[in-house]
Amino acid sequence: MDFSLTDEQREIQALAREFAQAEIDPNAAAWDRDHRFPTELYPKLAALGLMGVCIPEELGGAGADFLSYILVLEELSRADAGVGVTVAVHTSACTLPILAFGTEEQRERFVPPLAHGEKIGAFALTESGSGSDAGSLRTTAVADGDGWRLSGTKQFITTGTQAGTFVFFARTDPESEGARGVSAFILDREHVEVTREEEKLGLNSSSTAELRIDTRVDADRLLHEERKGFTVAMATLDGGRIGIAAQALGIAQAAYDVAREYAKERKSFGKPIAEHQAIQFKLADMSTEIDAARLLTYRAAWLKEQGEPHTEAGAKAKLFASEMATRQTSVAIQILGGYGYTKEFPVERYYRDAKITEIYEGTSEIQRIVIARKILELQREPAATA
Ligand code: CAA
Repeated sequence: MDFSLTDEQREIQALAREFAQAEIDPNAAAWDRDHRFPTELYPKLAALGLMGVCIPEELGGAGADFLSYILVLEELSRADAGVGVTVAVHTSACTLPILAFGTEEQRERFVPPLAHGEKIGAFALTESGSGSDAGSLRTTAVADGDGWRLSGTKQFITTGTQAGTFVFFARTDPESEGARGVSAFILDREHVEVTREEEKLGLNSSSTAELRIDTRVDADRLLHEERKGFTVAMATLDGGRIGIAAQALGIAQAAYDVAREYAKERKSFGKPIAEHQAIQFKLADMSTEIDAARLLTYRAAWLKEQGEPHTEAGAKAKLFASEMATRQTSVAIQILGGYGYTKEFPVERYYRDAKITEIYEGTSEIQRIVIARKILELQREPAATA
């Protein structure tokens, strides 16, 4: 067992950290306040190779491993969780499934523009009536000559307004009610219409859109086999959830950093509050839980990189890291007291941003279902693909 990062992983981590400290952290409060998607940031991330960290070089990526990508998500999310989720969905939920399930032609056509950051990727699974029960989605794809006519609506689509490429799910078998009738497609911006932008509790520098679709696409837009779309979605989310665990970890680390520094400076009863045991215990618990989340997250990333099954490990990492982030960002506010509740410090933003990590890419309840099915051997661990 080796817990050390390789030189390459350290270099990518340092690159992402320096970029995040210089270009993201100073602006994050304003983007949050103004609910602004920082469009200008993504070409800069792309120039550093951070829009395609774990994508092979021959397809335009940086060619690094999956753990390097996870380290990047952690660092970006430490500065701004909205940027973290944009890069996470772009990479894990759009570029990687095209890489894993696409034909040679689809990979060569769609992956390089995503890996270069010329296009941002999105993942359109959720609908107003199907969130956790993703297999009950109602958007249809009806055979139309040598192609498909898609119609329906999608809800809560991260980066739905800015994305240029969508991994999009629709029901191709109208006879089937559940997951078995779902197929996956690769769509362009022109194929979908944005009908609403959500206002959210946090994550205000990311975009969350409602989409409408009523369009025809050629047969070459089908990703993987017909009626195998749910497998694409689930395998994608197996990896995506490790990314959300990294996002939660980055948010919690940021809250801990602020709380620790504050505790060393702020005095009460004649000494820094860090010398009061009540505060020491909080910081000790925070540091321990962040460590635990990091180990779960890196282990899941390592398993995925090795091509090992990682459904259970990824669900455990996301479950623990997201609930930990909600818990510990709240503790960080408590350590800062009244100041923590104001916009003078960033911890209230971290607290608002953390909550969503318990909800998207499968709620905590769904993660518990996934874990329970594995540990009770109710479902076989699928071979790693995406
Ligand atoms: N890998 C590959 N295939 C899998 C799989 C996996 N991990 N898990 C299930 N499958 C396959 C099954 O083998 C089965 O295939 P067959 O029919 O060929 O046997 C098929 O998928 C259906 O599986 P289930 O019977 O387990 O399906 P289910 O209806 O019971 O649902 C669930 C399972 C885990 C609850 C699933 O619906 C789920 O994960 N729900 C949560 C949805 C979710 O995470 N949404 C996130 C939206 S995207 C997002 O949030 C992005 C963002 O903005 C940040």
